[in-house]
Amino acid sequence: MNKAVKRGIRRVWDVTLQRHSAKHTAGPVLPPGNWAEFDPFLMMMEDKFERGVFDFHPHRGMETVTFVLEGTLEHLDNKGNSGLLKPGDLQWMTAGRGIIHSEQPVPGDTVHSLQLWINLPSAKKMVETRYQDLHAEDMPVLREEGALIRVFSGSSNGVAANTLNHVPVTIVEIILEPGASMTQDLPSSYNGFIYVVNGEGYFGAEETKGKKQQVLWLGSASEGSESEVTIRAQQKLHAFLVAGEPIGEPVVQHGPFVMNTIEEIKQAFDDYNSGNFGK
Ligand code: CO
Repeated sequence: MNKAVKRGIRRVWDVTLQRHSAKHTAGPVLPPGNWAEFDPFLMMMEDKFERGVFDFHPHRGMETVTFVLEGTLEHLDNKGNSGLLKPGDLQWMTAGRGIIHSEQPVPGDTVHSLQLWINLPSAKKMVETRYQDLHAEDMPVLREEGALIRVFSGSSNGVAANTLNHVPVTIVEIILEPGASMTQDLPSSYNGFIYVVNGEGYFGAEETKGKKQQVLWLGSASEGSESEVTIRAQQKLHAFLVAGEPIGEPVVQHGPFVMNTIEEIKQAFDDYNSGNFGK
């Protein structure tokens, strides 16, 4: 077990939020279109928005994972599901065969959130829709000196979440006091990244520097089956580490539909327009 390959950081980039409308500011954490590089992840956005921005809209063929940083988010869908997410909570929605949902701040609130899109393999694109509202206080936590690690999916140093995955994905929230460090274990096959919400620190085998609103994409670990990445805080650090098993299939995305072929995208539009996603 101590043969784990120590991963470095392959690439670092900044996330810049821009105003899209009077009610919406957003920036790409993982810009769309980099399907092979980010596999199994499609994109990730950081958003600040008021009511009226993400009213009812469909999805098919993928999963959305929404982490609320500020404000209270209400979700509703055409099948009668609903829920409230407060700061620190995460929602895992498997769109699968088709859902029409609304993601709106409660009246008067502005929500600040991160939303990650995870691809589904062809065999699972049409699975039943599924929600997992993962409230911060219910998730397993690992506490070490100056470190708090909350496991939303997968595991960290033997502490596992029971979150259901179609694609194996590890998501941990990391809070480190200045000078504290943590090491995350990952299968060598996983692609992944760290997003720094606040603070700054040193990341990976070469102690690459990273700070607030930077993405650090993990280097690969070709040899052996186990790998690990070490994070050390310089200033108090709040970050997410996200990694998953690549799918290795063609990706065709059109708006909220993510399929393998253009024919399947056309079918998604036909199904949506003819009411097959439900009313
Ligand atoms: Co949506």
